[in-house]
Amino acid sequence: MSTQPEHPTLLIPGPIEFDDAVLQSMSHFSESHVGPGFVSTFGETLSMLRKLFQTTNPASQPFVISGSGTLGWDLVAANLVEPGEDVLVLSTGYFSDGFADCLRVYGAQVTELKAPVGGRPQLPEIEKALSEKRYKVLTVTHVDTSTGVLSELQKLSDLVHRVSPDTLIIVDGVCSVACEEIAFDDWKLDGVVTASQKAIGCPAGLSISMFSGRAMEALQKRKAPPASYFGSLKNWTPIMQNYEARKPSYFATPSPQLIHALHTALCQILSKPLAARFARHKEVSDKIKSVVAELGLRQIAGDPNDQAHGMTAFYLPEGVQAAELLPKLAKKGVIFAGGIHREIAPKYVRFGHMGVSVTDPSRGDIDRAIEALRSGLLECGYQQVQKQT
Ligand SMILES: Cc1ncc(COP(=O)(O)O)c(C=O)c1O
Repeated sequence: MSTQPEHPTLLIPGPIEFDDAVLQSMSHFSESHVGPGFVSTFGETLSMLRKLFQTTNPASQPFVISGSGTLGWDLVAANLVEPGEDVLVLSTGYFSDGFADCLRVYGAQVTELKAPVGGRPQLPEIEKALSEKRYKVLTVTHVDTSTGVLSELQKLSDLVHRVSPDTLIIVDGVCSVACEEIAFDDWKLDGVVTASQKAIGCPAGLSISMFSGRAMEALQKRKAPPASYFGSLKNWTPIMQNYEARKPSYFATPSPQLIHALHTALCQILSKPLAARFARHKEVSDKIKSVVAELGLRQIAGDPNDQAHGMTAFYLPEGVQAAELLPKLAKKGVIFAGGIHREIAPKYVRFGHMGVSVTDPSRGDIDRAIEALRSGLLECGYQQVQKQT
C-alpha cells in the first residue's frame, strides 16, 4: 500500500506517478555534494545509466545535470553544433519543432523534414536530404509526446551510417528512455537526451544524457568554445568522470536529493531485465490501444508500427470536447492530458502509461483509467460507448 496521500492518478505523458521509495529518497538528510557518501551515490547513478542505455563502450559519457528535458536540447545545440553548421531535424510534432527552434537559437542552420500529423519522415526522403548536403548532426524525437509517434532508430541509424557516416545521430529520448528499447552501442547512436520525470520515474529536475565517443570528439574539436557556460559539456565532463571514479569534484552544485531519487529509480529499473520492462510497456500499451479502437476512436499515430508504447494520443469523437471530458475523468480520479500539437490541439487527448502505473499491476491504475474513459465518454453523450457496453 502506498503511503502517499490519496490523490488522482497522474496518467499524463510525464510527469508520471512516482513510487513511494523514490519519493522517500528525496527526504534524505542534507549532505555535502563533495562528501564521500554523495560522491558514491552519484558515481553509482552514472554507472547505472550506462546499463539503462545499454552501453558498455568506455568512450560513452553519461551526464546528469540539474534542469528539465529541454536542457538536453541546449546541451546538443551549444556543444555539438557551431554557428552556421547544418542540422537535419526529423519532425514528428511539437517537441521536434522545439528542438529545431533551440538549435536555431545557437546559430545552427536547420533543415526540418516534417511529416504530416501522425506520421514520421520516411527513409527515402531522409536519404535524399542526407545526400544533398553534409549535415553535422541529425536529430530525431524517439517519441514525440505531442502525437505519440514512435520513430524507428535502428534502420535510421543504419541509413545515416551508410549515406552520411560523419553525421552525428542525436535522439530526443525524453518520452522513450526506460519504456522503449534503446541500444546505444548496437544502434551506433551518438547522443540520447532525456529527463527524470517520465518513464525513469524520478521527479522532474534532472537532464540526463549519454554521448558517444564520436560526439565527445566533436566537442573537443570545436573551433569556438561551447555557446553556454552552465551548459558547457567541457565544464561538466571532468565532473562526471570524477564522480564516476568516486572522486569529489565541483563545477556547479548538483541536487543531492534528486540524485538520491534517481539512484533509487534506477536501482528499481535495473533489478529486473530491461527486456521484460519494455515487453510489459508494450503489453499494456497494446491493451489500451485495443480499447481505444473498440471505442471507435482513432489514434493520432496512424500506422501501428509508429505508435509509442508509453503513451496513447487519440482523437475525441465528434461533439465531445476535451474541456468536458478531462474534468469528468479527474472526478473519477484519473488525470489525462489535453492535446498540444498546434494543428489539432483541441481535437484530441493523451493518456500516459509509463513506469509504476504499468509495472505494478496491484495499483490498478490502468484498469481504473480505462473504466473512467469508457464511462466519461458515455457521460459526454458518446453513443458508440453505449453500443459497446
Ligand atoms: C519528447 C520531449 N522532448 C522534450 C521535452 C521537454 O522536456 P521538459 O518539459 O522536461 O523541459 C518534452 C516534455 O514533455 C518531451 O516530451
